[in-house]
Amino acid sequence: MKNELQNIAKDTNIYLKKFINSQSNSKLVSPMKYGLFPGGKKIRSKILIDIGYIFSIDYKTLIKIGAAVECIHAYSLIHDDLPCMDNDYLRRGKPSTHIRYGESTAVLAGNSLLTMAFEILSNPYLDLNEKIKISLIKKLSECSGHLGIAGGQYLDLNYEKKKISKNKIVDMEIKKTGKLFSFCCAAPAIIKRRDKKEIMFFENIGSKIGLLFQIADDLIDFRGNSKTAGKKTGKDHKKGKATLVSLLGYGDSIKFCDRIILDVNKNLKKYGFASMKIKETLNYILNRNKWKKIINI
Ligand code: IPE
Ligand code: IPE
Ligand code: MG
Ligand code: MG
Ligand code: MG
Repeated sequence: MKNELQNIAKDTNIYLKKFINSQSNSKLVSPMKYGLFPGGKKIRSKILIDIGYIFSIDYKTLIKIGAAVECIHAYSLIHDDLPCMDNDYLRRGKPSTHIRYGESTAVLAGNSLLTMAFEILSNPYLDLNEKIKISLIKKLSECSGHLGIAGGQYLDLNYEKKKISKNKIVDMEIKKTGKLFSFCCAAPAIIKRRDKKEIMFFENIGSKIGLLFQIADDLIDFRGNSKTAGKKTGKDHKKGKATLVSLLGYGDSIKFCDRIILDVNKNLKKYGFASMKIKETLNYILNRNKWKKIINI
C-alpha cells in the first residue's frame, strides 16, 4: 500500500511537472507549483486507479486523469486555508500558499489550478475519444461547482458555531469532499461507456468513500498529531465546525466509518477479485493515522 501510493504520487507529480513546464511561464507558475508539490497523499488518484483496475483501464491514462483531479484538490486546499475560509497557516508541513505568496496570488494560483484540470482533460495527449472526454469534463465540473466542492465549502463555513443535524452534516461532507471521489469512481465507468445506472452506482460508491475520508480527516483533527498530519490539528473544535465527530463523538464516528466500509465492500463484491484493491485502500483510509510516515509524502 505504502509503495503503491508513493509510486502513484511520483508518477502523478512527474506528469504534472511535464504538463506545466510544457506551457509558457508566468508569475503564477511558482505559487501553483508550491500548492501542488511535493506534498499530498494522492489518495484520490489511488481510488481512481483501484476502480480503473476493475475496468482494466490503462495505468497511464488513469495517472493523467488523476493529475487533473489533484489540480482541483490542490486548488481547493489553497482556498480552504485562506483567511476568509479556515484561516490556516500550515499545509502539507509548510506555510500555506497565501502565507508564502500573499492572499491575492493564492486566490489566482488556485483559480489557475482549477482550470488546469480541464486543460489536462481536453489535451490531445489524453488518448480518449472526444465524446468520452466531454463526459469526463462535464462530470468533473459538476463535482467541483455549487453542487460539489464549492457548494460544500459554503455549507461548511455557514454551519460554523451552529447546531446542525446529522443528515445536513453528511450532505455537506459529501459535497465538499465526497463529490471529487464520486468523479474518481465514475470516471472508469464513463471511459468504458457503461450505462447511466452503472455510472450512478459508482458515483454513489464514491460519495460514500469521500464521506469516509472526510470523517477520517475530522478524526485526525480531533485526535491526531500536527507534525504527522502536516497541518494544524484541534482546529475544527476551536472554529466550532459542524462535523460528525463533534456530533457523534469519537467512538460512534469510527463505528459509522466501519459501516460505510462494510457497505461499500458489499456493493462491490459483484466485481469479484478486482475489487480487492479498493478494499485495502478503504482500510488504509480509516487507519492512516497509524501509517505515520506516509501521511505526507
Ligand atoms: C485534505 O485532503 C482535505 C480533505 C478533503 C479532507 P488530503 O488529506 O487528501 O490532503 P493531501 O493531498 O494528502 O495533503
Ligand atoms: C477541506 O476540509 C475540504 C475541501 C474541499 C478543501 P477541511 O477544512 O477539513 O480540510 P483540512 O483539514 O483543512 O485539510
Ligand atoms: Mg475547511
Ligand atoms: Mg481546512
Ligand atoms: Mg480537516
